[in-house]
Amino acid sequence: MQPDDQVPNPATPAPTGPSRRTFLKQTGGLLGVALAPPIASQAEAIADKMAPASPILSGQTNISLNINGQAKNLRIEPRTTLLDALRENLDLTGTKKGCDHGQCGACTVLVDGKRVNSCLTLAVMAQGKPITTIEGLAKGDELHPMQEAFLKHDGFQCGYCTPGQIMSGVACVKEGHATTDDQAREWMSGNLCRCGAYPNILAAVREVAAQQAKG
Ligand code: FES
Ligand code: FES
Repeated sequence: MQPDDQVPNPATPAPTGPSRRTFLKQTGGLLGVALAPPIASQAEAIADKMAPASPILSGQTNISLNINGQAKNLRIEPRTTLLDALRENLDLTGTKKGCDHGQCGACTVLVDGKRVNSCLTLAVMAQGKPITTIEGLAKGDELHPMQEAFLKHDGFQCGYCTPGQIMSGVACVKEGHATTDDQAREWMSGNLCRCGAYPNILAAVREVAAQQAKG
């Protein structure tokens, strides 16, 4: 039973002021009337002010990307990451989204020959530079030596990190950063593998580095 519903005790003088429930109703109503409109109108005013001025919040733009040797024209929001442009707009889903925060390397692609985390790269910033994804490594039926080495050494289990590992491995060897086991481990450390296939990944990268050293 609620306090307001209690039968009054004749020994207790009847309360003269408003009850607790009535008080809360009244003050709640007053606060609602007093606060809601200014807060709402303030947020709307801020949004109205920002939206037309900021291309990040509104509108789309036309861009052209050179991906795996082909020109691709896109109409996207300027804030679209290269990773999302590849996966969502171009259906190139070989590049994986892991953390989406630059911490796992699953999204690694080559831009102008250099490895980048595509989740941290805006697509508009990659215009005018050759972009290579895992789909562009093989030449027809002929796999890239790094892909062959990953197969040979079982450099994967679930395979989710593998495209990023392979792209990173290609760049790591090209940079000359895979000449020893320790060096390759260090320079591949931005690519995480939750399955723990690290010894096999290392073996694959080191084998390709050794092949290239021999010429
Ligand atoms: S998805 Fe880009 S670093 Fe993890
Ligand atoms: S093979 Fe599964 S995360 Fe690397």
